[in-house]
Amino acid sequence: MLADESVLVQGDAQAVLRAMPSKVVQTVVTSPPYWSLRDYGIGGQVGLEASVFDFIDRVAELFDDVQRVLRDDGTLWLNIGDSYTSGGRTWRAPDKKNVARAMSTRPGTPEGLKSKDLIGVPWRLAFALQERGWYLRSEIIWNKPNAQPESVRDRPTRSHETVFLLTKSEHYRYDVDAVRGPNDRRLRTVWDVPTQRVGEASGHFATFPSTLVEPCVALGSEPGDLVMDPFLGSGTTALVAGSLQRRFAGIELNPEYFEMSRARLLKAGFLNL
Ligand SMILES: C[S@@+](CC[C@H](N)C(=O)[O-])C[C@H]1O[C@@H](n2cnc3c(N)ncnc32)[C@H](O)[C@@H]1O
Repeated sequence: MLADESVLVQGDAQAVLRAMPSKVVQTVVTSPPYWSLRDYGIGGQVGLEASVFDFIDRVAELFDDVQRVLRDDGTLWLNIGDSYTSGGRTWRAPDKKNVARAMSTRPGTPEGLKSKDLIGVPWRLAFALQERGWYLRSEIIWNKPNAQPESVRDRPTRSHETVFLLTKSEHYRYDVDAVRGPNDRRLRTVWDVPTQRVGEASGHFATFPSTLVEPCVALGSEPGDLVMDPFLGSGTTALVAGSLQRRFAGIELNPEYFEMSRARLLKAGFLNL
């Protein structure tokens, strides 16, 4: 498996990862579902755990398998956003622009937090991964210059998400000259990347922009290497990998989204029938 080809698999990320051989993946770029934000409408999905602590345990455990399939000099680029406690609301109305945001139930306030607290999900997850042996090498702020205003009037509008760079070893592949910042300076930790809507997929997904994924793939791998996304969604990571002459492995639970990414990759010529 995965000797010289790209592959897409429809199924549960953890189950598929467990069937993969060790040390075959050079770079992982992924964005797991955020806790309690969207219902992707399929049993077994990550993100609907009753408590944020269960969510973090589940995702951290899944990343144990990511660590096993990663080469010793591999990198994990993990995009994760934060959420607020629900402030006593127990459901969320459908959002006209994003049907997946309707929730029939919303979990109560996690123990130890108060209503309206920012939960700090990215850092809670980062610490859990660090405890499980990952090297936490960088916190990258994905600044969204085109972020939509929020209706809140008692705090600033959130306009960023986090991308953590995590590694399996102390020394790893990082091509410092592969990507340069403004004025040809070495990359800084704040990246300005406008959000992109992905055509037909935009109603369903929290897609990340290809311009966020490109530097991660370029810095962490070279042509021919295998790049993986265990939460493939609309296929952004695989499309970027293909466009940079990398092979890819993508896993997606939802058959509809799986077909969508397969169609996009076929159309781009990165996948054989
Ligand atoms: C935040 S989206 C990823 C979007 C992707 N980065 C893109 O650009 O399109 C998370 C994806 O994880 C999928 N997912 C949820 N639970 C999963 C599981 N257990 N195994 C595999 N995929 C899962 C969802 O269906 C959703 O497509």
